[in-house]
Amino acid sequence: MTLGAVPTVVLVSGTGSNMRVLAEHALRQALPIQIRAVLSDKPAAPGLAAARELGIPAGAIPAAEFPDRAGFDAALADAIEIHEPRIVVLAGFMRILGKAFVQQFIGRMLNIHPSLLPAHRGLHTHRRVLANGERLHGASVHFVTHELDGGPVILQGSIPVRPDDTEQTLAARVQTVEHRIYPQAVHWLAAGRLQWNGGCIALDGRELAHPVIQEMDG
Ligand code: GRF
Repeated sequence: MTLGAVPTVVLVSGTGSNMRVLAEHALRQALPIQIRAVLSDKPAAPGLAAARELGIPAGAIPAAEFPDRAGFDAALADAIEIHEPRIVVLAGFMRILGKAFVQQFIGRMLNIHPSLLPAHRGLHTHRRVLANGERLHGASVHFVTHELDGGPVILQGSIPVRPDDTEQTLAARVQTVEHRIYPQAVHWLAAGRLQWNGGCIALDGRELAHPVIQEMDG
């Protein structure tokens, strides 16, 4: 483990490509975190196998085994706290988390979303961008609050929508954006450059009234 690396837990429900990118950055000491565990609500999530391949402990808290959301949330919170993380990273974690869970990790839990928030919260973002004929698309890293995809946005990567783009090409290009901006935002938080301050977020001591936007060729 890198000395001073910030203990981090990553939550995944799917392939875990963002988790893998963060882990690879951490392993080559380009990111000052130690991923202590990757946890999932889905035992079959490929992201769990990917974590184990990287030597990271991985486990599932199967949502189907709990009668209600509160029970699942409490079990997940306990499983996270065992690892004493200072940062919790949602990387394609597809369950809505309740208020008590969010409050427990407020200010130290990040999510990545495949749109330029506040546009297109929720699912099918690429489809909606194409249907609206929008010319810009991208991804956003934000603090998690109880509002779905609604917490303060930290960093966005934007790409132009091309005339021949399809949902598939946009998804692939936005994923590339995600793999660039998530390590950056996690780095800011781990290094203490990004602060929560009760919901008023600051980067390097200055209030971040608007997200940092990186324009990419994509
Ligand atoms: C990403 O598109 C992310 O924006 C969304 O879920 C997807 C996760 O992809 N929240 P992966 O599992 O990291 O490949």
